[in-house]
Amino acid sequence: MAVAPPNPEHAPAVLEARAIHKSFGRMKAVCGLELAVHAGEIYGLVGPDGAGKTTSIRVLAGLMGADAGEARVDGKDPMRDRVAVRERIGYMPQQYSLYGDLTIDENLAFFADMFCLPEKEYRERADRLLALTRLERFRSRRADALSGGMYKKLALSCSLLHRPRLLLLDEPTNGVDPVSRREFWDLLGEFTHEGMAVLISTPYMDEAARCHRVGLMHHGRMLVEGRPGELVRGFPHSVLRAVGGDREGLTARLGVHPRVLALSPAGSRVRVVVERGGEAEVRALISEQGATCEGAVPDFEDLFLARLREEES
Ligand SMILES: Nc1ncnc2c1ncn2[C@@H]1O[C@H](COP(=O)(O)OP(=O)(O)OP(=O)(O)O)[C@@H](O)[C@H]1O
Ligand SMILES: [Mg+2]
Repeated sequence: MAVAPPNPEHAPAVLEARAIHKSFGRMKAVCGLELAVHAGEIYGLVGPDGAGKTTSIRVLAGLMGADAGEARVDGKDPMRDRVAVRERIGYMPQQYSLYGDLTIDENLAFFADMFCLPEKEYRERADRLLALTRLERFRSRRADALSGGMYKKLALSCSLLHRPRLLLLDEPTNGVDPVSRREFWDLLGEFTHEGMAVLISTPYMDEAARCHRVGLMHHGRMLVEGRPGELVRGFPHSVLRAVGGDREGLTARLGVHPRVLALSPAGSRVRVVVERGGEAEVRALISEQGATCEGAVPDFEDLFLARLREEES
């Protein structure tokens, strides 16, 4: 679990983006992105498929030009000062980024060469990263023979070799088992304590809740931004848990109820996010279907689902 430094929002901004727009033909992938990520801060970009997360990250990394807007990494423009920005960022793309037929050591050496790291610095840094990621024992294993979690940790290590000020991670733990995901986050905690800023996109709500701040993106726009805990505390709606009864009938009726903002069935339970003021009505409907109803504490996923539903209606 990432441990928050005292107040990273008061640290200097390493990444700043103002009014970034990017379209592909008529598809507006990013519309007016405003963002600041500070030294020591982990900022999470959350959003459904196609929300514009990857496009935002690519623009901020200087891999793709924006149609409008400005970005700065440590004061440098990613499009104009490409070399300076490349030295300052570590980027882990959503898709495979390593050479599968090279070993762990060879992949690290390749990235060290790319960043022209002096031999001694590279050795020390690689040894430390391999110790932290517990990949030392596998140094001579080819990347395509690594487990999903090990592969991601190697990709993270490669992106950290040159001590970037800003780390851009695009769904780095997608498809990785929960233990490896936790280890990955512990590593991020280590590096942000050293002052690195992290912008990470994730589909996992538990990961979003671990970020210092999160932004919820949808159709290229940022719908909400804030500290996860504060966003959840300010959540205006109620959450109910229906247990037992006729589950099929219940989900069918709740699914079309105008006061229901989100439904998540899990086993014999159904979690229901109810619009403010609609709780009594929905409780009555749940009882009619023979289920018992209890109140639940809202979490980040409830907020995320409700906000998307509000946006779509
Ligand atoms: N190179 C491209 N050419 C055309 N359209 C693109 C291109 N890249 C992205 N898009 C479109 O832009 C929108 C945003 O895509 P993007 O990949 O940024 O979303 P995302 O939030 O990263 O999604 P996911 O969670 O699936 O990775 C989508 O509608 C996508 O189809
Ligand atoms: Mg993406």
